[in-house]
Amino acid sequence: MGDFSRPETEAVLAAFDFSAIGQLVDVGGGRGELLMTVLRATPGLRGVVFDQPHVLAPVAVPADLEGRLELVGGDFFASATAGADAYLLKHILHDWHDDACRTILRHIRAAMAPGGRVLILEQVIPPGNAPFPGKLLDLNMLVMTEGGRERTPGEYALLLESAGLNLLRIHPTASAVSVVEAVAG
Ligand SMILES: C[S@@+](CC[C@H](N)C(=O)[O-])C[C@H]1O[C@@H](n2cnc3c(N)ncnc32)[C@H](O)[C@@H]1O
Repeated sequence: MGDFSRPETEAVLAAFDFSAIGQLVDVGGGRGELLMTVLRATPGLRGVVFDQPHVLAPVAVPADLEGRLELVGGDFFASATAGADAYLLKHILHDWHDDACRTILRHIRAAMAPGGRVLILEQVIPPGNAPFPGKLLDLNMLVMTEGGRERTPGEYALLLESAGLNLLRIHPTASAVSVVEAVAG
């Protein structure tokens, strides 16, 4: 996933301004490749990688990010790191059916700071029948997961609303991934 992420990360950094955020949690952030790149590109930003304890066990905070990056082991179906300004979910929600996504999002909604944001990085399916890589990925999620899928803007709006969040805007990037930005409803 880290290798897949690299080209997308550059595109996300070019399309979305992280500088207004104080603390960012990467929910299901793997070994932290994305968050480390975002922190290095955004002076003043602090971050938390939240993932399963066994995933984080071999990871160490690099010397240049000491004091700005924290590694927190946990279960995103049970809780979310409290009090952050923004929560990033990259290729997390497409792994799961709507009920599971709602559970993850509701924990975030309950934990986020006032005025906090949720940033979902996924391949958002555009309207119409034109070719789009996310449509193949959607098929992949159908056969590889139990209920995982890519979603349209309307499907994200409904899912977010059911978790107490409102879709604010969708930021396209130069990659197939978009940033779906949501706020408390
Ligand atoms: C598809 S990977 C995405 C990783 C990373 N966000 C990226 O895009 O490169 C899904 C991640 O979710 C984490 N994960 C799965 N179930 C989890 C749970 N219950 N609690 C916390 N993290 C979980 C996995 O360990 C993995 O790192």
